[in-house]
Formats: sequence, C-alpha cells, structure tokens
Amino acid sequence: YDSKTRPAFTSDQTSFAYISARDRWPIILTGAIDDAHRTVTNVIEELKREEGKKIVAELAKLKYELQHDRKLIPLPDDGQPDIASYNRELEQLGTPSWFNVPWLFAECYLYRRVAALFSLSQHWKSYDVFARQKISTFRSSRPAVLELADRYHELVIQMGGKDTRTQEEADEAEKILFMEMCEICLWGNATDLSLLTSLTYEDIQKLQGSEARKASEKNILINDLGAAYDFLKKAKKEGRERKVDIVLDNAGFELYVDLILAGFLLSAGLATSVVLNAKAIPWFVSDVVPADFAALLSALADPQGFYSTPSDDDVLTAKTPQPLSQKEVEDLSFLFSNWSGFHAEGQLILRNNRFWTEGGSYWRLPATAPQLYEDLKESELVIFKGDLNYRKLTCDATWDPTTSFVEAIGPLGPGSGVNVLALRTCKADVVVGLKPGEDEKLKAMEGGGGDNGARKWAWNGKWAVVSFSAGR
Ligand code: F6P
Ligand code: MG
Repeated sequence: YDSKTRPAFTSDQTSFAYISARDRWPIILTGAIDDAHRTVTNVIEELKREEGKKIVAELAKLKYELQHDRKLIPLPDDGQPDIASYNRELEQLGTPSWFNVPWLFAECYLYRRVAALFSLSQHWKSYDVFARQKISTFRSSRPAVLELADRYHELVIQMGGKDTRTQEEADEAEKILFMEMCEICLWGNATDLSLLTSLTYEDIQKLQGSEARKASEKNILINDLGAAYDFLKKAKKEGRERKVDIVLDNAGFELYVDLILAGFLLSAGLATSVVLNAKAIPWFVSDVVPADFAALLSALADPQGFYSTPSDDDVLTAKTPQPLSQKEVEDLSFLFSNWSGFHAEGQLILRNNRFWTEGGSYWRLPATAPQLYEDLKESELVIFKGDLNYRKLTCDATWDPTTSFVEAIGPLGPGSGVNVLALRTCKADVVVGLKPGEDEKLKAMEGGGGDNGARKWAWNGKWAVVSFSAGR
C-alpha cells in the first residue's frame, strides 16, 4: 500500500535518518537503561527486582546490536496482533541491519521492541521508561503553562459573556483565535523529548512563550489554517454534530496545548466533541499514553502541590520551587474544572488504537485499520500533530519537496473521506508542498545544509508546515 517513492533509509549518510540511528537512538536507549536501572535498584521485592535487572540487560543488548549494526531480530510475541505484521515486514525487507533499513520502520521497531520487554514481564507490564522524563519536562515548562492558563481563562470567560459585536466582527475574531490556538498547538510540538538530546531546558522555555510564537510566524512555510477553519465554520453554521479528532503526539507541554485547542474548539462551538487519539504503548520517548493524560489532569487538580513539591532534580540541586500565586492557582484550577467538565460530559474523549504504533505509514490505514478509518471519516477534521505523524502521512518517502501534500498522503488525500490537517514542526528530511526553489533557498541559509546536499534546515524544529487536504 505504500508509495512507490523510495523511503528514507538509515544508510543515507547525509540524512537525519543516519544521524538518528548513529547518535540519537543510543542516547535514547541509554536514558531508558538509566531510568529502569534507577527504579530497579529501589525495588524491595526480590522477584520483581531480579526481573527488572533482566530487562535492563535486554535494553543494553538492544543498544549493543544497534551500535554494532547487527540484524534486526524478530519481535517476541507478546500477544498483540501487530507483532505478526512487524515480523512479516522484517522478513519482506530481507532481515536488514540497523544501518541499512527504512528509517520509519526501524524507529518504530525500536520502540516496539522496548515495549515488548516490559509487556512480556510479570512485574513490569505497565512500566513506562519515559514517564519520569515526560512529567519533569512538563514541570519545567511552568512559565509557558502559566502564561497560557491565564490567557485561556480570560478567553473562555469572554466567550461565555454578552457579545456586543456584529456577526461579522465576531466571525473575524473567531477565525483569528482559531489560527492563534492552532499555532500555539503547532509550536508546542517544537519541544519533544526525542530532540532533548540536543536542546537544553532553557532552549525549550524560549521556544514556548508567546513572544517566541509571534517571532516564529515567519517560519511557517505553508499555512493552510484558513481552509481548515472554513470546514469547521460551515459545519457550525449548519448546526450538525461536528467531531474533531486530534491524533496526539507528545505528552507534557504539548498535550497541555492540545487541550487548550480542544477546549477552545468546544467553547467556541467549532466542535461538539473532540477525540484525543493516544498511543497504547510508550512511543518515541515522549508520546502520550493514557497514563500521561491522567498525570496531567492530576497535576492540574492540585497545582500548588504539583509545582511546590520539590522534584527529584530540585532535591539533587537543593532548590526549593517558588510557590504559585493565588491567581496562578485559580487559572490552573479553572483549566482543570473546564476540561474535566468536558471530559465528564463525553465531549472530550480519550482513545487509543494499536494502529498508531504499527511499523508502517498511514497509507495503510484504509486497508489495515478499516474501523478506525470509518471513525476518522466521521470527523469534520482530523488534526495530526507533530513530526512523526507527518512522516507517517507522507510515507517518510524521499519526495521532491515541490510534490503536493495531497499527492504525498496518497490514500488519505482527496476522495478518502478524511479531512486531514497536519500541524508539523520539521524534525526530519521529508517535506512536501514547497514552492519551487524554496528548499534550495533554505538549504543555502547558514546551517541549512546546502554545502553537502543535506536538508539540515528541516531537522531542528525551527521551521514548520501546516498542510490541509480536503478528503470530502
Ligand atoms: O527527527 C527526530 C525525531 O525523533 C523523529 O525520529 C521523529 O519523527 C520525531 O523526531 C519525533 O517528533 P514528534 O514528537 O514531533 O513526532
Ligand atoms: Mg512524539
């Protein structure tokens, strides 16, 4: 079902695929080993501790295989149906080795293999090696979290109040707000944890504030938000049910901004329900699993407790966190009651589906996940967050960058019945929909990669594309 255009391979030495396999994945695995080791050492129950040690050893083995360019071995059967398709694909690829394999498949395999180590255990089934990291980066995005909570609180109150504007003014304002909320949501993705290996916490905070967002508007290379808005507006005018799906990406700050967008869509009546699609297993370090959603809500349920209790890092550096002000507590508590209200009313729904963690692209959706495909067709809009979703939409193929988005998403393009909106900060080589000459111009900028033909400008989350495809 995939595109005929060649996928990105880890053997392409000028690509981010190669750098990922060589530098990033070992760092990510080292982080996982450290985390598991730290937890295991503190376990008192012997059987559990011994099993934990074995998992740590298996993680180390995986890292060894990767760094020594060994072949990818079949995944052990943990009872889930995706294992068979991973192993079938492995066979079809001729049992490749780590440095000569399609990037997308290998990276998915990596996380699936880690997940299988835990799911096959007795005592560690629900353990998430990335959870610690996810919640601690949420804590460190405190300034941006507070800024947005204040803004959201004010906005929802305004929307509920008496409106003295003409219809035209109100429509115009709604459209502007929609664009702004989507842009917040877009840049919230610039800070995923799998890139943390090259960013400092300080860099991350800089990426999150409103100043940074305004300055980044010129870095959105394609912006189809207007077209997406028109679809939602039309459905609102017709007064019918209007569901929006968000295919989530990262937990912590990004999930927080996704909820800001979801809450805005519901408050403005641009959606009557929002479905949040999470992952069923820990994925690409920071992706949302259901437990992350619960962790975020429980942080907001007791914001003072969450922010004033010293974190592990605070303890290490002997820092005492600054307590929140009364106003800040109120803003965060408002978010909590607003969102849990929507959740309780069934307007904000969390789902997960194994399809999202399969090894292939979304070109396969209609054939391999027909039920999910039907569900998405019922949505007014399906918002795909982040880089990996974009890679999966476009088959992670080596498209000419002037290829149109609708062509690059193949079976999910026009006629598919699915209205696709991709909010993506660029963290990988694949990019489509650019004007002729634009890629060359970006490559020629400092650090753009032109010197050796690499598309370096697209690797660090500084540039973004917002692409829409009307499926019906
Ligand atoms: O490019 C780096 C990378 O880790 C990719 O492997 C992956 O596509 C992406 O970042 C994850 O980012 P996101 O969380 O935005 O999907
Ligand atoms: Mg992610």
